[in-house]
Amino acid sequence: MSNNITHHKHSLSKGSRASIKNQKPCILYFTGLSGSGKSSIANALEQKLHTLQKHTYLLDGDNIRMGLNKGLSFSDEDRVENIRRIGEVAKLFVDAGLIVLTAFISPFQKEREFVRSLVEKEEFIEIYVDASLDTCENRDPKGLYKKARKGEIANFTGIDSPYEIPTHPELHVKNDTNSIDKNVDEILDYLNKKGYLC
Ligand code: ADX
Repeated sequence: MSNNITHHKHSLSKGSRASIKNQKPCILYFTGLSGSGKSSIANALEQKLHTLQKHTYLLDGDNIRMGLNKGLSFSDEDRVENIRRIGEVAKLFVDAGLIVLTAFISPFQKEREFVRSLVEKEEFIEIYVDASLDTCENRDPKGLYKKARKGEIANFTGIDSPYEIPTHPELHVKNDTNSIDKNVDEILDYLNKKGYLC
């Protein structure tokens, strides 16, 4: 498989790429149930970072599944592969000096830990977007919970497929009681205090 492949060492480093962007590259790894608000928070946060002249990229579950990960299902095995690829892509973007936001359900602790292991310790920020199943099901922005309850979609997270709650996320935002703006501010505050925005 990977025989006869040699890793090339390039002259330009991640640090050099990041330094001209005045930021510390990292992965803001949003995880939570479908409908919890991962994409909405990530989207609003990316806009704010942009106004602060920060260089970002947002990888979003639904969008990536229309391209790079087209063809992957929602079986446990394919979800693992989905996250493996996302992890590798996010790592490349970190190497490019970017602040990467990822918004995937990412239901398994083991895969989240895998992505964490791909980058330096301070480059991975796990953000648990916490909204109860009831809240997500009531919101049901895409009508998918309804379909899952009727048995029209199999392996739906929270219904007949598990979601493992993060045990030690760097940030835990409550997205049923707090507003999106408040959660975005909390994350920005964290990034400022920890020196990511230089
Ligand atoms: S993950 O589990 O592999 O991380 P991902 O974030 O890429 O999932 O995709 C989740 C999105 O796909 C949901 O927000 C929803 O819009 C859609 N979706 C379609 N089928 C399912 C399913 N069976 N379970 C969860 N989400 C689904």
